[in-house]
Amino acid sequence: MTTEIPQLTVVDHPLVGHKITMLRNVATSSESFRSLCTEITLLTAYEALRHLPVEQVEVETPITTTQSPMLSGPAPAVVGILRAGLVMVEAILTLIPHARVGHLGLFRDPDTHRPVEYYRKLPADIADREVLLVDPMLATGGSAVHALDILSELGCRPARLLSIIGCPEGVGAVHTAHPEVTITLAALDQGLNEHAYIVPGLGDAGDRIYGTR
Ligand code: PRP
Ligand code: URA
Repeated sequence: MTTEIPQLTVVDHPLVGHKITMLRNVATSSESFRSLCTEITLLTAYEALRHLPVEQVEVETPITTTQSPMLSGPAPAVVGILRAGLVMVEAILTLIPHARVGHLGLFRDPDTHRPVEYYRKLPADIADREVLLVDPMLATGGSAVHALDILSELGCRPARLLSIIGCPEGVGAVHTAHPEVTITLAALDQGLNEHAYIVPGLGDAGDRIYGTR
C-alpha cells in the first residue's frame, strides 16, 4: 500500500498482518519469532524489490522458445544491520541466492539511543550494485541513517530500506537525512516511548530473535 508519505510503502496484506500480530505477542518463542521474521521478510521483499532491473532473455521451454525476463546488471547487495538484520539477510538470500552481502554492526547506546558502530564489512564494489538495507526495527531511525550515511559516502545509489516495524519518527529521520531513500514496512506503528522503543511494537528484536533476555 502506498501511503500519503512519498517514498514509503506499508505492505497491506492479510498474511502480513496475521504474522505481525504473532510477532508482537510477548508469548511467541524465539524459534517462532525467527520464522515469522523470515516469512514477513519474504512477503514484503516482493514489494521492496519491485524496482530491480530486468532484461528479456531467450529461453527454450519444453514447448517452444520465448523471450522472458531475468534480473540484469550486477547482483544486488543486501546489507544487514547486526544483530537483528541477520535473519532478514538470510531470507533475502533465499529469493536472490546470488546477492552479495554486507554487514554493519550497530547497537544503540542505552542512554543516548544513538547508534554505535562496532563492525563493518561491505562488498568492495557495492557502489555498482542495487542495495537493499534490512533491519527489522526503524525506531528513532538513528541506525538506519548511520547505515545510509556510510552507503552514501561509498558512492552508492540511494538504497532501499526494508524494515518490519517502523514509526513516524524513524521514517521522518530517514527521509530528512536521505529524502531519496525508499522505505518498505510491514507495519507503521504509532510512535516511540520514553526509552525509544516502538509502541506497540514488539520489544527488542535482537533479544527476541536470539533469546538473550
Ligand atoms: C535495534 C534494531 C535496530 C535499532 C533500531 O538494534 O535492530 O538496529 O535497534 O533503533 P533506532 O531506529 O532507534 O536506531 P539494537 O541496537 O537493539 O541492537 P541488536 O540488534 O544488536 O539488539
Ligand atoms: N530496537 C528494537 O529492537 N525495538 C524497538 O522497539 C526499538 C529499537
